[in-house]
Amino acid sequence: MNTLSYVDIHCHLIPGVDDGSESMKESLSALKEEYDQNVKHVICTPHVTADITLQEVENIKNVFSDLKQHVAKTAYGEFLELHLGCEIMYSESIAECLMNGTVWTMAESSYVLIEFLPSVAFEDLSYAVRRLTAVGCLPVLAHIERYQCLYKQISRIRSIQDMGAYCQVNASSLHGNIFDQRTRFIKKICKEGLVHFLGTDSHGMIKRRPEMDRGADWVQRHCATPLAERILCQNGLDLLNDIVI
Ligand SMILES: [Fe+2]
Repeated sequence: MNTLSYVDIHCHLIPGVDDGSESMKESLSALKEEYDQNVKHVICTPHVTADITLQEVENIKNVFSDLKQHVAKTAYGEFLELHLGCEIMYSESIAECLMNGTVWTMAESSYVLIEFLPSVAFEDLSYAVRRLTAVGCLPVLAHIERYQCLYKQISRIRSIQDMGAYCQVNASSLHGNIFDQRTRFIKKICKEGLVHFLGTDSHGMIKRRPEMDRGADWVQRHCATPLAERILCQNGLDLLNDIVI
């Protein structure tokens, strides 16, 4: 029987603030789905860029607070904790934005969830990791399965982790069949301990519903127990408690 509870560090379930869930009703359905799949902590990570306005920031924070209040009134509310983070599209000025508070970290920790274009060059990825660590951040690279420069490049993945990066993959990326090369690669790096977090990257109940369970099942069946516990639970808790993994 599965006794592990999960931490979802990546989703777009604050209603109406980005391309994720479009309504409070949809967000509550998706969060109930997360709870039913044994997720106990959800970090909401709306898309942000260096160009975000003060008004947009205020809106995200207000709607997040409203969402928390709605969740608290549900039957599962006391068992599901919501936290605020964001998914930052990397650009040159992001380190400065983090320092001056224009954009924010994951649950007020030192961790930041960073995304890049799929075509990002490895040199640019490495430079970004160095820039972010230089200002005291712990960068988590969102859905690393999307970056061409890391595909089938285990030595590069090790190298950016040596520079201080952490890696998140989408739980749904573990669902591909045995002929799916990308899924095979993600499974391989998972087993080798090069994945720190699974996230749903859910956008609600229509576009990419929460699918933590199948990916988490695979991790528990194929990774050594201590590693599975770290990927699915402990690393997420360490992030929330601002403990360096
Ligand atoms: Fe995302």
